[in-house]
Parts: sequence; structure tokens; C-alpha cells
Amino acid sequence: MDLYEAIYKRRITRDFNDKIIPDEIIEKIIDAGLQAPTHDHLRNWEFVIIKDPKDKENVLQFIKKGVEPQLEILKQILTEGTPQQKMYAAAMPRQYSMLYNASHIILPFFKSNSGVFHPNSVSSLNPISSIWCVIENIFLAATAENLACSMRIPVGEEGLNVAKIVNAPDEYLLPCYIGIGYPADECPIVEQVQYTAKEKMHFGKW
Ligand SMILES: Cc1cc2nc3c(=O)[nH]c(=O)nc-3n(C[C@H](O)[C@H](O)[C@H](O)COP(=O)(O)O)c2cc1C
Repeated sequence: MDLYEAIYKRRITRDFNDKIIPDEIIEKIIDAGLQAPTHDHLRNWEFVIIKDPKDKENVLQFIKKGVEPQLEILKQILTEGTPQQKMYAAAMPRQYSMLYNASHIILPFFKSNSGVFHPNSVSSLNPISSIWCVIENIFLAATAENLACSMRIPVGEEGLNVAKIVNAPDEYLLPCYIGIGYPADECPIVEQVQYTAKEKMHFGKW
């Protein structure tokens, strides 16, 4: 698939069918992730891959608890809202299933430093900026393989708890969970907010 086609086709997907991705394809996609630019030249990234249902339950246990009480409220008030509210209404009830039902969960870890928690300039956040380049490469490579990805940002202590469960060293942080799988046939299309470059470009001065 052409790069531009992958860029335009990539969408966060929260419904998967039960087809399993061969591990070689996962490896190829992570290799694409590893081609991302890196602030320290060291590519201090590690990936924990989860595919066994028991392991999935284990790493996702902190999500299940948070989501369920909100579901009915979200269904009632957010289905007729703005595109952001509709996205929320589609996303929140699926935070657990969009990862559990994915063929594989990729946990991308990056090596952190004290600057990430106490930034004094944008460059303090370089470790987190670099891992997001990796994550986007993964999304695009998955799209090129006709696969799709979900993602969730861990909230509160969730990321630290997941890191402990998978034995990640203390200095490694989890920026998000990635679910990767074959999209379900009945995948709802979540409305996009679209902009054109013309609306966003400022030549010379804003
Ligand atoms: C930094 C960041 C955080 C996000 N957090 C979540 C999340 O916690 N759960 C979720 O379901 N989607 C999450 N998303 C996905 C967005 O909802 C999604 O990218 C957005 O609705 C645009 O849709 P698209 O990616 O299909 O173009 C996140 C995306 C980004 C870039």
C-alpha cells in the first residue's frame, strides 16, 4: 500500500473480528515502529506483546473497573452530540473490549527520566515525543497490512500498575496500550472532524 493511502486510511478502530495475526506480521510492524526518529539516538523502547486471553485479562484488569459505571449515562446523553461527544460515546464503552478482542495487545514502553515528570521546556518531554513517533509508525504499518489499531492512554496509576504486572523496569513508562487486529465487518464509522491544509497553513506569519 502506498504511504499516502495508509495515512488516509488509518483510523482508530475499536471493533475486531477473532482472526489471529501471525507473529511474523506483528514483528514486521514493530520493526517499522523502530524506524522512528529518536531524541537520544538510542531507541530506548521495548515492547511487551500480549496474546493469551489470561494475560490479556491480567494487563487489562485496571480498565474494566473504571468503565462500567459510565456506560448507561454515556449512551443516554452522548449519541446525539458533537463529533467529539459521539467519539466519546463510541469509545468509552469499548475501552476494555477494543483491547481484549484485538488479536494482540502491544505495550510500547519508553525509558523515562525526571524531566518527563518535571518538564522545564518542551525538550524535557523528548522521551515521550519519540515514543509517539514509534506509535504512529506502528499504526501506519498496521494499516498497510490491512490491519487496524485501537489505543488507550492509561489514567492515574493504571500505567504503573500494568508496568509492574509485566515486570517492566522502574524507569520504563507505558504511554498507551495498542490493540491490533483485523477490523470487524460491522465496524461503526466514527464521524471525523476534517480540516484541509489550506485552513491550517500560515505562510510567513500566523
Ligand atoms: C494522545 C491520544 C490519546 C488518545 N486516547 C484515547 C483513549 O484513551 N481511548 C480511545 O479509545 N481512543 C483514544 N485516542 C484515539 C482518538 O479518539 C482518535 O484518534 C480520534 O478520535 C480521531 O480518530 P482517528 O484516529 O480514527 O482519526 C487517543 C488519541 C491520541 C492521539
